[in-house]
Amino acid sequence: MPAEPSRTIAIACDHGGIDLKATLAAELEGDGYDVLDLGTNGSDSVDYPDFAYALASAIKDGKATRGVLVCGSGIGISIAANRHAEIRAALVHDALGARMCREHNDANVIAFGGRMIGVETARDCLNTFLNTEFEGGRHERRVDKLSNPK
Ligand code: RB5
Repeated sequence: MPAEPSRTIAIACDHGGIDLKATLAAELEGDGYDVLDLGTNGSDSVDYPDFAYALASAIKDGKATRGVLVCGSGIGISIAANRHAEIRAALVHDALGARMCREHNDANVIAFGGRMIGVETARDCLNTFLNTEFEGGRHERRVDKLSNPK
C-alpha cells in the first residue's frame, strides 16, 4: 500500500550535505516516516538547484507534504526551493527558528547548512519543525501573499 502522503518526507542535498542528509534520513525513518530520498548520494560535485527543484516537484505533485534540504551553507538550496510558489523553505540554525518557521510562516521545507550546523542541533530543529503547528490567524493572510507576489 502506498505511504500516506502526510507521513512521507522528501529529502535532498548537494555534495555539501550528504553526511547530514544521511543522518536526518535515518532519524526520520526511525521516527516512522517514509523518506523519499531524492539524492545526491555521492561526493561528486553537483548543482544544488537540481536537487531543490526535484524536491519542490515532489511536494507540488503530492508525493510528500514536507521536505528537508541540505547544501554546504543551506543558502543556495533554500533560495532555489523558494523560487517555487508551493514552497516555503526556511533556512534554520536553531530550534527557535524551527518553531517560528512553522508557527508564523507555515514552512513546508526546512533547510540546513551541512557545513554550518552541528548534527544534534539539526536533529533538534527537524524534530521541532515536524511537531509544531502553524498558528494561522493573522499569519494566514501574510502566508497567502507569499504565493501571490505582486
Ligand atoms: C557547494 O560548494 C556550495 O556552494 C553549496 O553547497 C552551497 O553552500 C551553496 O549555497
